[in-house]
Amino acid sequence: MLLPAAARLRYKSFSQLFKTSTKSNARLILAPLFTPPSITRTMSSAVAKRLEGKTVVITGASSGIGRSTAFEFARTAPKNLKLVLTARRIDTLKQIAADIVAEVGEGVKVLPVQLDVSNPEEVKTFVGKLPEEFRDINVLVNNAGLVKGLARAPEIAEEDINIMFNTNVTGLINMTQAILPIFKKRPEGGAGDIINVGSIAGREPYPGGSIYCATKAAVRSFTDALRKELIATRIRVMEIDPGQVETEFSVVRFYGDKAKADAVYAGCEPLTPDDIAEVVVFVAGRRENVVIADTLIFPSHQAGAGILHKKST
Ligand SMILES: NC(=O)c1ccc[n+]([C@@H]2O[C@H](COP(=O)([O-])OP(=O)(O)OC[C@H]3O[C@@H](n4cnc5c(N)ncnc54)[C@H](OP(=O)(O)O)[C@@H]3O)[C@@H](O)[C@H]2O)c1
Repeated sequence: MLLPAAARLRYKSFSQLFKTSTKSNARLILAPLFTPPSITRTMSSAVAKRLEGKTVVITGASSGIGRSTAFEFARTAPKNLKLVLTARRIDTLKQIAADIVAEVGEGVKVLPVQLDVSNPEEVKTFVGKLPEEFRDINVLVNNAGLVKGLARAPEIAEEDINIMFNTNVTGLINMTQAILPIFKKRPEGGAGDIINVGSIAGREPYPGGSIYCATKAAVRSFTDALRKELIATRIRVMEIDPGQVETEFSVVRFYGDKAKADAVYAGCEPLTPDDIAEVVVFVAGRRENVVIADTLIFPSHQAGAGILHKKST
């Protein structure tokens, strides 16, 4: 097997890999499986380099996808990164901040900030209240969002309609408007990343989810229009649409009823929040001229909003 020179040098004892089998067998077995470590290292360090020195704001970082995204950014660029973690549960954010620093060290500075994105006044004053060293934001991950209930019209509670729209739509738009002026001050019309977490629900509306689906369709329209509005800049506008992910999402949908939430995932293997976090960091870590505009991510047993294969139990 031919290896690049760097990999050969690094693995002086490479021939040891062949010890348990004959040379010709080893070629057959290892050739398709083996990725020279030098190549994988180069790719991941390129991402770390691109993220180095950046300030990342994540909404909804106290749980699920947002929490995992915070860890994933920190693990990918542990030498020099600033993370602003926001959500309503400040104690949880403080614990996450401490856990991140304990894991990756002091190269990552983490600032937990209590923020209810559904409150326009809080969003308006958010940037101005940040310590100076966290204000030069490069990446905004608009992740905060929720679903309430499975009610169908005309039985949908007004309170649920309002909380879903105020959080998923108005909150995301207000956050974007609060941070865009920072991006637009940069050369070439501006630079920075807006990563919006949408959903398969925004593409395929389903009965019992009309309001949530409408909010995620609104996210999709806003995201696509914004990308077009910012065409003359270096600002990247990207959307990530997960399918089924096991987080607190269903517990919130069923107003805290854990048994009902667990039933959603029975007989399935849902995505984990880490699966989505890896994609968030992947899109943020591309070369500046590469825009992963749109991503739809399913677990293997899912092919649509209502197309889920469940193993019989
Ligand atoms: N799980 C799925 O199957 C799935 C599928 C597709 C899309 N998504 C989307 O993924 C995103 C993250 O959800 P998740 O699955 O990770 O659920 P999760 O575990 O319930 O996390 C939701 C996060 O949003 C925050 N949040 C809710 N309301 C907020 C508000 N008014 N202000 C600030 N933060 C708020 C929560 O924090 P606090 O409660 O501390 O404020 C929490 O950190 C959402 O936009 C969701 O729609 C999820």
